[in-house]
Amino acid sequence: MTIESVKPAAPEAPAPSEPPLAGGRVPGLGHGWRLVRDPLAFMSRLRDHGDVVRLRLGPKTVYAVTSPALTGALALDPAFEIAGPLWESLEGLLGKEGVATANGPRHRRQRRTIQPAFRLDAIPGYGPVMEEEAHALTERWRPGETVDCTFESFRFAVRVAARCLLRGDYMDERAERLCTALTTVFLGMYRRMVLPLGPLYRLPLPANLKFNRALADLHLLVDEIIAERRASGRKPDDLLTALLEAEDGNGDPIGEQEIHDQVIAILTPGSETVASAVMWLLQALAEQPEHAEKVRDEVESLTGGRPVGFDDVRRLGHTNNVVVESMRLHPAVWILTRRAVTATTLGGHHIPAGADIVYSPYAIQRDVRSYDRNLEFDPDRWLPERAKDVPKYAMSPFGVGNRKCPSDHFSMAQLTLVTAALTAKYRFEQVSGSNDTPRVGITLRPHRLLVRPMPW
Ligand code: HEM
Repeated sequence: MTIESVKPAAPEAPAPSEPPLAGGRVPGLGHGWRLVRDPLAFMSRLRDHGDVVRLRLGPKTVYAVTSPALTGALALDPAFEIAGPLWESLEGLLGKEGVATANGPRHRRQRRTIQPAFRLDAIPGYGPVMEEEAHALTERWRPGETVDCTFESFRFAVRVAARCLLRGDYMDERAERLCTALTTVFLGMYRRMVLPLGPLYRLPLPANLKFNRALADLHLLVDEIIAERRASGRKPDDLLTALLEAEDGNGDPIGEQEIHDQVIAILTPGSETVASAVMWLLQALAEQPEHAEKVRDEVESLTGGRPVGFDDVRRLGHTNNVVVESMRLHPAVWILTRRAVTATTLGGHHIPAGADIVYSPYAIQRDVRSYDRNLEFDPDRWLPERAKDVPKYAMSPFGVGNRKCPSDHFSMAQLTLVTAALTAKYRFEQVSGSNDTPRVGITLRPHRLLVRPMPW
């Protein structure tokens, strides 16, 4: 007998187990009912049941991932692709041929087309438009007059995205139409995601008709934008030109449908997310005047009273931390989904082929296991000496991996600049009739935020 043969066998990795079923099912509706009733609380409690848990949504079993490490693993593992209830629901809006819903070689090709417009070195080129739009808000908002933040934030986001990326003068009428259409469409998409009641959504009920009208207007709007550019004969160096001139894998021009879906896939996530982030920033500044004062002081000490500019952004460390902290507590994208391409494991749990996986940046970014005083608005937690203690993937409002939002630098620049410009001039108060409770749709925003800008 050799020494080798008496060595105890190496312990085998435990066989992958089925994840536990989350509590709180409603007969017939599964967990969907609770997801509709109080989705943020529901998602935030799931980690108490495990790092991966099973949910029943209608007839389907969906897997929820609840720990930061496993959301990172999920986003980086090619065994999972973009699909699942969120994306199926979004396909009705974004189309099947845009970058946000494509997978595999088509997705890689599309990312190559759009990426140059979002590269770090491309962002300063957008500086003058961002400055103009941020300062235009400070002029447009009159001291003491009530500001409807939903419309104003949307308008700002649409104008920045359209003017920077599509070089269009898509002025107020189009911003308003886009805002109205997207509000209705995103709410309807969310309902279809959590309560997949198929044929019921085809009945001619007022809510369904309103949804269909909004969706049709959205597509019409995009057709108008493309037709206008073609009719102008102009080919500025922008994202729209890149899309109009893009080629498929064979070197042929991409089809009309893909161009349309690509414009939708840029404009819609670009406006809804930034608008939500601006609303939550205004809510935070109104709720916490001491933080507004610190932002004002930082801007003033840097600019000495001149209008804050794009070149100041990288020196506005505290203002940037206010933006990040606001996005931690209220991430615009509060829920994401993936689908398992093959049978696989995640965190020692078996995930069958075709399974839908869901996770919530909102729940992850508020988890007491990752953040001390987790519900407190504390921008200083992003100072380098404290930020290093935040677990990996516990703060990923733009996502991780090959599906990470292309617009992280673009968005952070405009959000920091608009926060600085507004706060240098005004402090904010919520007014009667304002309702800042979260309104949960495909994005997260306040129900109806009304603020009054006041001179300092
Ligand atoms: C506060 C602002 C924003 C936030 C928080 C945000 C967040 C996100 C997140 C979480 C994803 C999905 C990541 C995933 O599935 O793992 C995403 C994807 C995407 N975002 Fe953003 N986004 C923002 C602004 C924008 C803007 C301004 C644009 C364009 C103008 C944009 C365009 C896109 C596109 C095209 C995708 C799909 C990328 C792909 O699948 O390859 N986003 N964003």
